[in-house]
Amino acid sequence: MTTAEKNIVLHVADVNKSFGGLRALTEVNLKVEEGKVHAIIGPNGAGKSTLLNVCIGRIRPDNGHVLFNGQVLDEHEPHEINQLGVSRVFQTPEIFADLTLLDNVMIPAFAKRDGAFKFNAVRAVAAEKSVRDEAEYVLQDVGLYERRFDLAGALSRGDKRRLELGMCLIQKPKLLLLDEPTAGMARHDTNMTIDLLKRIKSRGMTKVIIEHDMHVVFSLADKISVLAQGKIIAEGLPDEVRGSPKVKEAYLGEAHQ
Ligand SMILES: Nc1ncnc2c1ncn2[C@@H]1O[C@H](COP(=O)(O)OP(=O)(O)OP(=O)(O)O)[C@@H](O)[C@H]1O
Ligand SMILES: [Mg+2]
Repeated sequence: MTTAEKNIVLHVADVNKSFGGLRALTEVNLKVEEGKVHAIIGPNGAGKSTLLNVCIGRIRPDNGHVLFNGQVLDEHEPHEINQLGVSRVFQTPEIFADLTLLDNVMIPAFAKRDGAFKFNAVRAVAAEKSVRDEAEYVLQDVGLYERRFDLAGALSRGDKRRLELGMCLIQKPKLLLLDEPTAGMARHDTNMTIDLLKRIKSRGMTKVIIEHDMHVVFSLADKISVLAQGKIIAEGLPDEVRGSPKVKEAYLGEAHQ
């Protein structure tokens, strides 16, 4: 097995995943360097979300391994991976619609500390000023502070995405995985999210971002991997990937389907 490599926070090694007869991931290898923003792009159905779910233990690979800071995650449950310092924003927001924004952001703080979502504990510990202060700070960060007492279910899709981002930030993860964080956002909100992600970058958090919006990708990415039909077909610096004929072909192929 691979030994820990310096500066590699996330290492996906020779991962395969099939769903029945469909090969969603084929021999995928990915190395994400500490402090970098690593974008994964590719046409619809390329396997991007599957790859992210493999990284957080939601989907188990048929073979291959995922290593976080050199530690093999094969036997780890998703909540354990979260406690190790990996947080994620899913393609479809997963928030608590019946709770306020403030409670939504406080829950993951306790989840990380206590290892599980403890709903009744939330009210009981609402008095824990430090967590509440932190939650308010995070809501300011994501631009939702004014709405902190609203129910999360009332938010627009774009605001729900930002709330979910806040739910990750309060955990102060070492690695943040984002599956289309600007999907469903108007341009103004997208730009706000780009600014927010840039600010987080300066705090040294490593990020993997799956994104269709090339404006977002080229504003943020240090490195880009291109996934098409379950395989990494290109990888490199943004300018290298932008000019790659293989990449153009993959996207044109999609347009012609
Ligand atoms: N749980 C599942 N069961 C069966 N097939 C699945 C499952 N999850 C994903 N797939 C299939 O695996 C392939 C890759 O899906 P995935 O969601 O990873 O793609 P994606 O790159 O995230 O696409 P998009 O850009 O549309 O979000 C698709 O063909 C999809 O239909
Ligand atoms: Mg997806």
